[in-house]
Amino acid sequence: MQYFVTTEALATHKTDCLVVAVFEQGQLSASAQAINELGNDVISRIIDRGDMSGKAGQTFMLHDVEGIASTRVLLVGCGKQDKVTENSFNTASSAMAKALNDSGASSATSCLAEVTVNDKSASWTVRQTVINTETALYKYSLATSEPKPTENPLEKLGFNANAATNDEFAVAAKTGQAIGNGMNLARELGNFPGNICTPTYLAEQAIAIGQRFDSVETTILEEEEMAELGMGSFLSVSRGSRQPAKLITMNYQGAGDDKPVVLVGKGLTFDAGGISLKSSQGMDEMKYDMCGSASVFGTITAIAELNLPINVVGVVPSSENMPDGDANKPGDVVTSMAGKTIEILNTDAEGRLILCDALTYSERFDPAVVVDIATLTGAIIVALGSHTTGVFSNNQDLADALLQAGTDSHDRGWQLPIWDDYQPQLDSNFADIANIGGKEAGSVTAACFLSRFTEKFDWAHLDIAGTAWNSGKAKGATGRPVPMLVQFLLNRIEANS
Ligand code: BES
Ligand code: MN
Ligand code: ZN
Repeated sequence: MQYFVTTEALATHKTDCLVVAVFEQGQLSASAQAINELGNDVISRIIDRGDMSGKAGQTFMLHDVEGIASTRVLLVGCGKQDKVTENSFNTASSAMAKALNDSGASSATSCLAEVTVNDKSASWTVRQTVINTETALYKYSLATSEPKPTENPLEKLGFNANAATNDEFAVAAKTGQAIGNGMNLARELGNFPGNICTPTYLAEQAIAIGQRFDSVETTILEEEEMAELGMGSFLSVSRGSRQPAKLITMNYQGAGDDKPVVLVGKGLTFDAGGISLKSSQGMDEMKYDMCGSASVFGTITAIAELNLPINVVGVVPSSENMPDGDANKPGDVVTSMAGKTIEILNTDAEGRLILCDALTYSERFDPAVVVDIATLTGAIIVALGSHTTGVFSNNQDLADALLQAGTDSHDRGWQLPIWDDYQPQLDSNFADIANIGGKEAGSVTAACFLSRFTEKFDWAHLDIAGTAWNSGKAKGATGRPVPMLVQFLLNRIEANS
């Protein structure tokens, strides 16, 4: 998709489709009102007939409206005019993208930026419209049979602006496109099946990203090199699988020798549970256990596309968790890179076993902060459902920055404690620490486990088990929390400038 900004008057602006907002109770946005007047009340008549209620996500296409140069007008319902929420705006702009793409219009200009969304700016609505357009038009690329390409897809989407908003809308569109692309990359990697998206495949994708951007340098560590580093915890998980583990590093350099933000993404390309085998119900969804790493891929590509002035290192420990004759067994004790011994009481708590070594490895980048992103616990879905990412941190400023980024990008998180009250749940009789903490507060004890390996730096942990993919009929990866992470980096740049 190509995005542009225009300051041309609505009546004379020539495009295949003008997009205007209408609200519940027959209220019209300024542009809808202008077109209504030029077109002899054509919009009011449709509303009076009851064909358009203004409910968020409703669309109605008009053709050959009098008095304007454009051939079509798309009415988009945005909900209650004085109460448009982020959710209703997202619903409306996604519906807009789908309606345009199915309409035969190859170009369109949106006037949705005049919709006031809570405390968000007009630029926010532009950015969000672009993100929602990119993500609404995403198509899984591994075809099931013959792919049916859309006839006359939308190719160009413009934003109606004025002299004052022109530049900021252009920046917002560019930012939105990078975030949307990053989300779609994360979704694509997440949706790929486990037999294709293996640790080796992820490593190849990382190498490709390094080749695509001069600013990104990718390195891959093989199992022998990890063994030399003493990553006994990570390697114990991979030992149960025929796919070799990879430790992927993508180093994005955009700010000289500033200390980097290190993003560590769980890259479990399939989590069968190991010897503590999962039940078969819904086990296919454990192909999504690499969505943390996918969000790191999406974030790195987004910031590289935007050339952001910041240094970011993406670290991805990638492995399968399978039940093999050589797999971890309950009761096994392994030694982590940090030297701490771990008693593996449940082989299905493998995410923390690969992350702890990756977190220790992160020390070598002399990080400003480290944020890990992981589909770590089913318990976080019990606590927060599928709307909210769990946020944990050993530094309140860092937690606040992530929560704020979540609010700004409407990709929200909620903080849970990692108080030392919970640490005794991880006591082991046979090692320094156990890998599970019993049935209470499973997400908290998982985070507490990681906290034992992050004492040397400011660290946050995002548990995305609920937010990274949808189940059921709409099964598919969401691309979250790419928006939160990119926003977090944008806010850091803003704060440091
Ligand atoms: N990848 C899972 C977490 C998960 C489960 C994410 C369900 C999404 C949906 C993780 O490796 C895991 O198996 N965690 C266990 C931990 C338990 C054994 C302490 C869990 O949550 O059941
Ligand atoms: Mn598991
Ligand atoms: Zn897992």
